[in-house]
Amino acid sequence: MRYLTRIVVALVVSLGLVAAPAPVAQARGHQVGYDKYSLTVDGQRVLLWSGEFHYFRLPSPELWRDVLEKIRAAGFNGVSLYFHWGYHSPAPGVYDFTGVRDVERLLRMTEELGLYVVARPGPYINAETTGGGFPAWLKTVEGRARSSDPGYTAAYRDWLGRINPILARHQVTRGGSVIAYNVENEYAVNVDTVYMRELQEKARADGIDVPIVHNNCCGGNLANWSSGEGAVQIPGVDDYPQAFNCDDPATWGTWGEGVTRRLRDDAPVYAAEYQAGAIDLNNAGYDKCRELTGPDYMKVYYKSNIIGSGATMYGYYMIHGGTSWGWLPQPNDVYTSYDYGAAITESRGLTTKYDEFKRQGYFLNTVKPLAKTDAAPAPRSSDPAVFTQARSNPDTGTQFVLLRHADRRSSADATATLDWATPDGEYSVPVRVNGRDAKILVAGYDLGGQRLVWSSSEILTHVGVDGRDVAVLYGRDGEQGSTVLRYSSEPVVKVLDGDVKSSFDGKDLRLDYTHSGLARVLISGGGRPPMLLMLGTDETVAQFWRLDTAVGPVLVRGTSIAREAEVAGDWMVLKADTDRAGEVELFAPVRRLVIGGKLVVTRRTPSGSLLGRLPGPRPVTLPALTNWQYRGEPPAFGNSGWQLADKTTTASPIKPKTLPVLYADEYGYHYGNVWYRGSFTASGDEKTVSLNAITGKRGNYLVWLNGTYLGSALGGTQADSEPPVNQDPGRGDFAVPPGLLSKGEPATLAVLVTNMGHNDDWTADDTRFKQPRGLFGASVDGAQITWHIRGARGSDPERGPLNAGGLYGERDGWHLPGGPGRWGSSPPATVPPGVSWYRTTFRLDLPQDQDVPVALRLSAGDYRVFVFVNGWNMGQYVNPSPQRDFVLPAGVLGRSNTVALAVIATEPTSLGPVSLVTLGNHWTSAAAVGQLR
Ligand code: GAL
Repeated sequence: MRYLTRIVVALVVSLGLVAAPAPVAQARGHQVGYDKYSLTVDGQRVLLWSGEFHYFRLPSPELWRDVLEKIRAAGFNGVSLYFHWGYHSPAPGVYDFTGVRDVERLLRMTEELGLYVVARPGPYINAETTGGGFPAWLKTVEGRARSSDPGYTAAYRDWLGRINPILARHQVTRGGSVIAYNVENEYAVNVDTVYMRELQEKARADGIDVPIVHNNCCGGNLANWSSGEGAVQIPGVDDYPQAFNCDDPATWGTWGEGVTRRLRDDAPVYAAEYQAGAIDLNNAGYDKCRELTGPDYMKVYYKSNIIGSGATMYGYYMIHGGTSWGWLPQPNDVYTSYDYGAAITESRGLTTKYDEFKRQGYFLNTVKPLAKTDAAPAPRSSDPAVFTQARSNPDTGTQFVLLRHADRRSSADATATLDWATPDGEYSVPVRVNGRDAKILVAGYDLGGQRLVWSSSEILTHVGVDGRDVAVLYGRDGEQGSTVLRYSSEPVVKVLDGDVKSSFDGKDLRLDYTHSGLARVLISGGGRPPMLLMLGTDETVAQFWRLDTAVGPVLVRGTSIAREAEVAGDWMVLKADTDRAGEVELFAPVRRLVIGGKLVVTRRTPSGSLLGRLPGPRPVTLPALTNWQYRGEPPAFGNSGWQLADKTTTASPIKPKTLPVLYADEYGYHYGNVWYRGSFTASGDEKTVSLNAITGKRGNYLVWLNGTYLGSALGGTQADSEPPVNQDPGRGDFAVPPGLLSKGEPATLAVLVTNMGHNDDWTADDTRFKQPRGLFGASVDGAQITWHIRGARGSDPERGPLNAGGLYGERDGWHLPGGPGRWGSSPPATVPPGVSWYRTTFRLDLPQDQDVPVALRLSAGDYRVFVFVNGWNMGQYVNPSPQRDFVLPAGVLGRSNTVALAVIATEPTSLGPVSLVTLGNHWTSAAAVGQLR
């Protein structure tokens, strides 16, 4: 039977009965325009509902597609993409757009998936990434960053001269996906209008012809670029109303009401970055951030904003956060995981926040009159505790009414009656707001071939299938709902499922029900096409997927995600995943269903849908990590690769405490650990080694003298350019053990300094960004010290400049699969102070048709651990940290794998258990999400 099925499917495909996916990117370009209501493409209004995704935080291009498909499946029609200058540029004039940095491939994927792109190439992006996206070599360039100073101008023009042409050829105007171009990022203080103007001139000169936008921060009098020199066409606003206190998720609205301001009368209202998660500033763990920005917050704030502002351009930050692998993190605010408490987790799992995005996204995508609305009088509520606010479409009259508690933080259970003057008459509408909740109710809407007079339930979506309307409405489980539809004569109402009462008064059909499960009602006659109306709850409607096909949109119920459907004749080929066995139901003009190359047995239901069953994934087990090998890295080991550090001047506005200048960036070592070696002739009287190091938050340094470990100190975060204030950052004084040094004998100081990454430049004044890294001051009781420094051995051609630092093991390739031999036997029971390397291999035999996200789990302990998997630096554990699981994406993981851990201890300690864990298990018919390589 299975064999026969395959033949049938092969035949169908080869006969061309299954259409190739509709080419979204047409060869010819489209016209992009805008007015005060919305963007337009070829004159059609576009309500841009996009989520932010960072390709640089997912070093596996195959998985970009998975995330983009998940974004699209939630009803988004766009993505906002930062482009990270430092990720592509290891050195001035050197740029790389290959492999995991192949942004052209990313843009092609967005085109294949029909997602618009807001391109955000900075040059400054913030984004909690090292230097806010600036390459660290920019720290050594004269001239204030984010200004029109010549040094910086030459540097950024080189970057834009490379990225702009890529973006330009992928613009909607040339048949691509880029619909808007974001200059700079929250450029709000210390602004330079010439710089802002020149950035735009550069973009235009490089062929950018879509609207130029900006994301303003913080409101008030800060620059928002809506007028004057440097103004952009569509100024947007960033808003993080919940702030970032993930340890206190119940406190709402710390940073305001979150209603996007209109900044220009001739451009749409643009919520450029709207909070969709949070950085974990208080180390509460990302689950708490997800709670702070959970579905109830999304309902209240997003819906309040939609109606309160009339915004038609949205960028939700983040929809998938990802991993700040390697040296991507900016040190002050984040650790390795950039999960962000987002709707799609770091390991690409879908959450209840995803469901809420879907409920809102499907609504916005379906109900077209929302793309053009004006503020309108709101229905009066019988109880002032129930707040109403309204907008309406000036062409169709369709009304959109926001319903929430007057105090949006309230969790009361309130009911009220609305006096609603709808386009189709006056009505008394009973409503309820129970707990932290908000709804957008619709009146006067042509729903397919139906006329929706009003409903106290919300619209998920509707499609037209075989000449009938299929609509899905929803409300909270247990709440009453009413829907009124207009007919010229009494229609026939057949309740297939659930308890739905109906009455007809000569023009209105009124349905009354309690939301519970999924009620189904067939309505026919009455002078309109037939309709299948489904009335669900938040949970039951989240099981629906709306997919665009060559024959129009269709609905699928069931599966853990339905990614794509192709319809040809009466066949549907569906790309979907399941996390358990269960039903799949199609509302589509087809009679046969194929998933993963197999025909699914289906039957026709009384609803007119096609119902089948799908299997779930098979259970998997991961191998234990055993047979660890060990190798110590002696202090300042080996004689090659050292550079004399003898500079006496620096372009940095922050001058060192002692000379020579020992800043790592001055010697071309921008990322990761550096070793210093100081040589002097001892007097024998030396008592103290005095050091200062600036590492960024949570960094430290370790000190040896003549091979004897003297101890460690915490690195500083900052020095001031004006002495004497804060000229003593990261101070450590280490006593010289008596008898260690002898008069006239050579002495060698070895110092290992962590570089936790570079500060951001939010203030656009260099004071944070240009903070040095490495030794800031060094003295040993007046000894004349000759310094050498050694850092990373250039940029890894595959993994990029941010992968590895200057540990000896990194320079010698100990972190790489098949790296050099001479590994010792089993690890010692005690990890000594200094750098210890552990290595083992494992095989992954996971089913090819399953997506099993894997993480490496470390035990908490008094150490710092760098996790290398197949050479990729997938993160850093620093005690204490809420993060113990390090996500290892397929692509980095393969069938045969090598794990290397570089463990840095400051005191003797022991390394706790290390294991592999699964973070999900899905049967999938999507290509390329299984284990690769
Ligand atoms: C915004 C900024 C983003 C990111 C965000 C917080 O102000 O534009 O890049 O830093 O804050 O996650």
